Formats: sequence, C-alpha cells, structure tokens
Amino acid sequence: MRYASITDRLAHLGSGRWAVHLAARRMKAAGEDIIELTIGEPDIAPDRALLDEAARAMYAGRTRYSNGRGEPSVLDALVEKYSKRRKGVTENNFLCFPGTQTALYSVMAGLVEAGDGVVVGDPLYATYEGVIASTGAHMIPVPLRPENRFHMKAEDLERAITPEARVLLLNTPHNPTGAVLTAAEIAAIGEVCRKHDLWIVCDEVYEQLIFEGTPFASPFDIPELAERTIVVSSISKSHAAPGFRSGWAAGPEEFCEKVLPVSETMLFGVQPFIADMTAMALSQHFETADVMRENYRRRAAIVEKAFAGNNLVTPMPPEGGMFILLDVAATGLGGEEFAWELLQEEKVAVMPGRSFGDQAAGFLRISLTVPDDVLAIAMERIGNLASRLVMLAEKRA
Ligand SMILES: Cc1ncc(COP(=O)(O)O)c(C=O)c1O
Repeated sequence: MRYASITDRLAHLGSGRWAVHLAARRMKAAGEDIIELTIGEPDIAPDRALLDEAARAMYAGRTRYSNGRGEPSVLDALVEKYSKRRKGVTENNFLCFPGTQTALYSVMAGLVEAGDGVVVGDPLYATYEGVIASTGAHMIPVPLRPENRFHMKAEDLERAITPEARVLLLNTPHNPTGAVLTAAEIAAIGEVCRKHDLWIVCDEVYEQLIFEGTPFASPFDIPELAERTIVVSSISKSHAAPGFRSGWAAGPEEFCEKVLPVSETMLFGVQPFIADMTAMALSQHFETADVMRENYRRRAAIVEKAFAGNNLVTPMPPEGGMFILLDVAATGLGGEEFAWELLQEEKVAVMPGRSFGDQAAGFLRISLTVPDDVLAIAMERIGNLASRLVMLAEKRA
C-alpha cells in the first residue's frame, strides 16, 4: 500500500535511537538485573495534593470535552506565571497541549514546511529531528562545543544560518548537555534572530531544574523579542508528572490565533480533570522541583567524583536538568559501541550520545534518576569497562 512521505521522513528517527534502552528493557523482562540510566523519567511521584485534585476533578464530572485553547483556570495560572516575566501577557498568548512534545509538533507545523530550515543546536533533544522532519523542513545544526560548556554562541549561530532558515529551536536548560544559557547569551542570540527574521521556539521544560549559579533566562523575557518568541513547556519535569501529559505554548497573540486550528484539528482540546490538576500545580508552590533539583545536582557531583583523575572517562558537568554527559572517546570506542558493550558486559543501560546528534557521538548520556548508591555502582562499572577496553587494545597492539 502507498503511504504519505511523512512516514518515510520519520522512519529512521523512531526506535533506532532508543535501541539500547529497548534492549535493556527486554533483558530486564527476561529477569536480568540491569541498572537503567537511559530515559529522563523523574524518579519521585507527583505531590499527593495534585493526584487528589485530578481524582477529585474526575469524580466531579470534569471528564467532558474542553475548548481548544485550554481551560480558563489553566490559562489564568499561565497568565500569572508568565506575567512575572514580561508585561502585557494575557490568555490570548497561550495554547494548552498534552505536553511539550505535542506543543512542539503543532508549533512547528504552524511555522515551517518543505523548503524551510530550522536551526537547532547539536547535541539536541532526541525528538527534535523528527519534529522538524515531520513538517518537511530540514534541520540546520549549530555545533554546541564542549569547550563552551555546550552553550550556543551567537557567532556559531550566525555562521550556520542559511537563506532557508525560518526558526531557531532553542532549549535551556538543555537536554542532553545540561547547559543553561545566560541572559547575555540569550540577548546575543536574540539579536541574530532579529537580524535574520527568525522565529525563536524555546523549550523550557527544565526551567525549574537549574542547580546553582546562572539564573534562568529566556527570550520570552525580552520585550524586543516578544513578536518572534514562542515558549513550550509542561509540568512533566517541574512536577514529576510526565504521564499526565500537560503542557502549553506561550507566544504572540497572532501566532496563537493561527495555530489554534492546528491544535484543534489534532486534539480537540485537552482533558479537563488534568487541567484542574495543572492549574493547581501552577498556582501553588510544591517541593517536587526543589527535591529533584537537589537530587540531580548531588548525583551529578557523584558522577564527577567517580571519574576525578580518570583519563579515559571525562564527565561534562551539567548546570541543570536531569542528565550528565560522559566523554568516552579516550577508550577508543564511540559512545554507541561503548553503550552496547556496557549493557552486555556490565548490565548498565545508558543512552549513546549519537541519539542526540553528531556532536555527541563520543559521549554517553547518563540519566541521574536512580538512587545515589546505584549510580555510584554504575559509574564504577563504566570505569571498569573503560580500563578493560584500553587494556585489551594495548594487548592487541
Ligand atoms: C528537552 C525536552 N523537551 C521536551 C520533552 C518532552 O516533554 P513533555 O513530557 O512535556 O512532552 C523532554 C522530555 O524528556 C525534553 O527533555
């Protein structure tokens, strides 16, 4: 049978990236004891009050259709949240989605198509390539360099831009590198986008997971960038609630008007009982993000300590998020080969850097979502494998 070209464009972007993770899950199901450091799943539960609110709302009959833009209570909460960052924000600046992922998909569908280019830092979050390819547009990578702690530099952005570029897809705090852009870096990037008339789509899903130092900064907060900036985010990470699928896009009023029919065509509105829970999540302070932030900061330090003085495995200290990258190039293996060896030999599952772009090919991405002692054991096994690989290579030479 004949299929539309979107299926071809996305065919190589799906499970291939998650092959190590899927193999680990199969090994686990077969009874093997695997330490899983692959996906970014918060390791604590959402606050009990949020679960109670979702259940209360469901039993109270909040199980009907919603409107396309979002439930009024969530829109009010979003206006309050984002008004603290920029003046003049109203409910017309928002669209609600089931998570950042669907927001990204709809936003891109509204902004680009075949022939257009989307500029994005490399390394990049694993689904971005698919989101871009789904529209028919092509990806224009900007190298994020380890020597710059993977921060996007305005001059690298400027160099990468081609005449087809329409959108810069930004992510801060960044997955997989943990880079947190400074206000000055954002301002410089914004200037380049203004010069080349690019939209800025900023994925801020890790906004609340910055360890210390650099305060959160966003193009949304710069009035001169208001007409071209769209933020996408959710409660998945901030409230440890990825399964609730609750997120939003924040952007110019005209953009929201234009993209609302795209969202309505795909979703026909979000779930009212989850919206009630989201409104509560956004309007009160919950400790969930504070606890996760401290856990991930402490665990990143455990990883850094584990490889202090090790010349085969080099941790790249993150400034936020849930992950840490390890440079394993000195072992002579690429990240992908190393990850497979690690799974087979040491029963530790990690993501090969290549799943996050060419620039990350020599790295492993470690998810910091397991208890400290388990993480320490996993790091010991990574160190053991690295030494063994080098010893074997020396013997062969
Ligand atoms: C950078 C980034 N954006 C978006 C998502 C997806 O978020 P959501 O659960 O809100 O769809 C993730 C999930 O890991 C992510 O790391």
